[in-house]
Order: sequence, then C-alpha cells, then structure tokens
Amino acid sequence: MRSRHLLAGNWKMNLGPQQAKNYAHQLRETCKDLSKTDVWIAPPDVSLPGVIEELRGSPIMVGAQNVHWADNGAFTGETSPSFLQELGCAFAIVGHSERRTYFGETSPVVAKRAVGAIAAGLTALVCIGETEAERVGDRTEAVLEEQLNPVLEALSKDTATKLVLAYEPVWAIGTGKVASLDEISQTHAFIQKVWARYSLNAPCIVLYGGSVNPSNFEAILSLQEVDGALVGGASLKADQWLELIKIAERV
Ligand code: PGA
Repeated sequence: MRSRHLLAGNWKMNLGPQQAKNYAHQLRETCKDLSKTDVWIAPPDVSLPGVIEELRGSPIMVGAQNVHWADNGAFTGETSPSFLQELGCAFAIVGHSERRTYFGETSPVVAKRAVGAIAAGLTALVCIGETEAERVGDRTEAVLEEQLNPVLEALSKDTATKLVLAYEPVWAIGTGKVASLDEISQTHAFIQKVWARYSLNAPCIVLYGGSVNPSNFEAILSLQEVDGALVGGASLKADQWLELIKIAERV
C-alpha cells in the first residue's frame, strides 16, 4: 500500500499542442497544493513540450503514453526514453491495452519498453488486464501472470521501485462498465501475490483503471488493495478530473 494516492490521467490521442497547453494552464491554477495525492498526466507526445513548460514548478508530473527501449537508433516513429527524460517527463505508460490490441504489442516487448524507460530514469506505468472473454472463461489470473512475468523477471531490486502497475480490465476501458469492488480487490490481491514471488524488495503499487469517474472513484480508492487510478475519459474533462483529485485528497 502506497502512503500517497496516485491519480494518473491518460489523454490518449486527444488534445493537440494548443488545447493541451490551455488545459494544463487551467490545471496548474487549480492544483497548487496536493497533500496526499500524486497527480500525473500523459498527453500525446507532440503536446508534451507545451504541457511540461506550463506545469513547471507545479506538483503535477507529466509523462508519455508509450516509450521505446533504446536511447536512439533506426526505429522510425518511436520515442526514446532518454529524449523524454531530457524533455522533463517523469514517467511513461507502457503496455496499455490499446497498444496491445491495435499495435500488436506482446508482453515481452512491453517488458523491454519498461526496462528501457526505467534505465533512462523514468517510472514505467505498466498496464495489464484481461478481455471480457478471458474473464468469462476464468482465465483472468493466467492472462495477468502472462503479462506480468516478463516485466517482473526483467527487474532487479534496484529498479523495481520505478515500476507502477495499472490493472485495467479491457472490458471496462471506455465502456462505462466498471469492475465490481470484489473483482478489483481480488484481482489486485492476486497481482500483489505474483509480485511477492519475485523478492523485489519494493512495494507493489497497483492502480485500477477502466471507466473511473467521480461517482465510482471513492469506493474504489477506499479498497485496501488499490493505490490509485489510471483514468482516460474523465481526465479530459476539467470538472471531472478536478473532482477526482478532490476525492483522492479526501479519502
Ligand atoms: P477510461 O480509460 O477511464 O476512459 O475507461 C482508462 C484507460 O484507458 O487508461
């Protein structure tokens, strides 16, 4: 269990440079003091410079939505972790289900990306989660292990502190269908059990993601096994995002 809550917003392919900068300005003005919540946002890569500039000196941390494992080289269309670090990014999301589903990212590739991010000084926010068919077919735990093992195998005691996990059931992402509180706590407990097998000597931090909004967040965050949330849709609407931050500060 983390001592502070972590609320991460994934803007996906929304908010180009100017819109993102305007939104970041609004967030900066309204999130000056955060007593028990770390707030992270992940704009699209092209919007990162403006958002980082806008949030300099603010407690809000900025990161990328994906990252390559190599520092440089012939990898057309990819982004180097050290370039992101130089720009002022604190973290990178890796292995989001949209990357796995639409861009064919496998768990070993996700592990490579996470290791590259961590080596460059970023925190890797690795997403895992089962599809609806996998949950119905009672394969959730097997799928999560298959996604987790390559990442945990690649870490050492020193690097594990730079890893944060997000459990995002694929069927709950952007659908308005949230996992039940029982499903969330049981699945997070399972993830913590897998983590414990690796003697990593670092706390296992697990966020929940999938249709989190101001009306369901308090109950989810109150679960002992939940350290925070990774939020898509509701992170794009200032009123909802600020409400989520308020809840995280209160719970
Ligand atoms: P959602 O997305 O909050 O819109 O369901 C979550 C995510 O994709 O990280």
